[in-house]
Amino acid sequence: MDLPGARILVTGGAHRLGAELALDLARAGAAVCVTRHRRTPDVRLAAAGITAIAADLAVPSEAVGAVERAADVLGGLDGVVHAASGGFRPVALDLLTPELFEEAIGATLRGGLFVAQAASRLLTDGGALVFIGDVAGVAGWPSYLPHSAAKGGLGTLVRGLARDLAPRIRVSIVHPGVVLEPEGAGAPVPVERIPLGRAGTPDDIAGAVRYLLTAPYVTGAALVVDGGRLVD
Ligand SMILES: NC(=O)c1ccc[n+]([C@@H]2O[C@H](COP(=O)([O-])OP(=O)(O)OC[C@H]3O[C@@H](n4cnc5c(N)ncnc54)[C@H](OP(=O)(O)O)[C@@H]3O)[C@@H](O)[C@H]2O)c1
Repeated sequence: MDLPGARILVTGGAHRLGAELALDLARAGAAVCVTRHRRTPDVRLAAAGITAIAADLAVPSEAVGAVERAADVLGGLDGVVHAASGGFRPVALDLLTPELFEEAIGATLRGGLFVAQAASRLLTDGGALVFIGDVAGVAGWPSYLPHSAAKGGLGTLVRGLARDLAPRIRVSIVHPGVVLEPEGAGAPVPVERIPLGRAGTPDDIAGAVRYLLTAPYVTGAALVVDGGRLVD
């Protein structure tokens, strides 16, 4: 796939990192749609000609409907980036509830599966699906067990989908390290824990997404973009 002229949906692309990924793809010449859920989309999206589709991706019918709507709006679909994710909050195991588990699994993992199901029907030949994981889903962070499990599940989903959908559609995942602190977070992660000595930037993640969308001989890949933090 070449990005100029490609038609791409970015779920969870209405603000923060997802919005940066959507804007990056638009700057590369793609026609882009995003999904939004609770919050008002970043004003830069409309200015870049990016349509925001409202959907609760934790609900399978809404996840499927959002992909179908994106294909309608864009006149077809060449790529999907699944960045939507809920429930990133630190909670000790003792205090976890079914509701907190559901919040973390809903849009991330169940949403990812049904977004992929719809995308598998709608993507053009040579299309690509890129999931946004998290190093937490590789390492398994004790304070973020539901989030870690949801993102870890995405890693497994990607390997299965890559086999299932080859050779028509490629499927990969990017695992970012710290890029943007959660809104309202306290102290930033100490950079001494990151071998490359800095937090990531949205551009670091956008470059990985662009690569995985367009690399014709790459599927089932997991690309860790974390400044080397997982090496510790
Ligand atoms: N920021 C980082 O440093 C970092 C690091 C590693 C991985 N990541 C991953 O990168 C992605 C974007 O990160 P972020 O920090 O920008 O995340 P974020 O601020 O938590 O935003 C998550 C997005 O998911 C959407 N979402 C949540 N629940 C949803 C639902 N039920 N249905 C539909 N959409 C839903 C939110 O929409 P609304 O706000 O409109 O509800 C929001 O746009 C996430 O997958 C995150 O796990 C981020």
